[in-house]
Amino acid sequence: THVDWDIEAAEKCGYEHFMLKEIFEQPKALQDTLASRIKGGEIHLAPAIDALLQECTHLLIVGCGSAYHAGMVAKYVIEHFAKISVEVDVASEMRYRTPLCRQGDVCIVISQSGETADTLASLRLLKELGVKTIALTNVVGSTISREADFVMYTQAGPEIAVASTKALTTQLMCLYLIAMVLKKNHDATLLAQLSQIPSLAQKLLEKQEDIQRFAARQFNKDKVFFMGRLTDYAISLESALKLKEISYTHSESFAAGELKHGPIALVDESTLVVAMCTQPQLYKKMDSNIKEVKARGATALVVTFDRVHEFDDTADEVFRIPETEPYFTPMLTVIVSQLYAYYCSVLKGNDPDKPRNLAKSVTVE
Ligand code: G6P
Repeated sequence: THVDWDIEAAEKCGYEHFMLKEIFEQPKALQDTLASRIKGGEIHLAPAIDALLQECTHLLIVGCGSAYHAGMVAKYVIEHFAKISVEVDVASEMRYRTPLCRQGDVCIVISQSGETADTLASLRLLKELGVKTIALTNVVGSTISREADFVMYTQAGPEIAVASTKALTTQLMCLYLIAMVLKKNHDATLLAQLSQIPSLAQKLLEKQEDIQRFAARQFNKDKVFFMGRLTDYAISLESALKLKEISYTHSESFAAGELKHGPIALVDESTLVVAMCTQPQLYKKMDSNIKEVKARGATALVVTFDRVHEFDDTADEVFRIPETEPYFTPMLTVIVSQLYAYYCSVLKGNDPDKPRNLAKSVTVE
């Protein structure tokens, strides 16, 4: 008898696509990235990095695509918890503008592959300007890992699908750890909440069918807008990117307060608006933004916490994530967007692992 042995199918471990497999690997990837760095109730990155961060008063972050979005989240998180100013930019801008940095500034250079041309060029520029660089990468021995002054690895394991999932969430986890080190005092409550994120991600993944069902009803929408405030805004950027990358749906994102400054002109019956609402102090503001898009005929999906009922009367659908510190939600809400983009892509007959026109690693300019 003849047995067909398909290497690629074997590597997918029973999942239909690498992307889905990688989405489901996130609880473990997050745990691996976190566990090795917590010792005796304290966070230790590496002695040299810990020492560098203790002295740091101004931080730069640079990356492309999803890596840039991780940096956007980190800006909100680090400024909130550590009260250190953070400047974040896409590498293709950073390298051509005139960054005003001083000797002793620290830059976190984020790149899953460690090979992206613009990111590498920014790293080289910043080093010339006397900035100390920390590479945050997934690939051991990559060019960026070798050229940076220091390196911190995301323990995501190989990411095969073009659209980044577990690399992004593990970048976020590393950036939260950096935020906690910058904050200097070891806050046991925050650390405990951070340690719970991998299991909360697992809990969320168990509800994937809710997202699949929602995608089955909405995948043909030709306009999808993601909106939020603060970290929810940063994740809106990543959510719109994910959806356009693999489902080829026209998707955009904006800070919810900007709605009335332009985007509202595009909202009509054919629009799906996904409102990320995990900042309790801003529920009321978000609720009025949702009412504004509903009044123009849009369909509204709200992503918020379990037990939050503020949006029950306004939203068409509410997807709930487990309770945690509101500033930690990006590692959970982004999983909702990944699954939504994945199912829309599959329902449209696309191959989510190999989206048209895109490459996993952009080593040319
Ligand atoms: C490409 C990929 C994106 C990725 C970006 C940066 O555009 O398709 O998923 O976010 O490059 O890649 P890097 O390896 O530097 O993180």
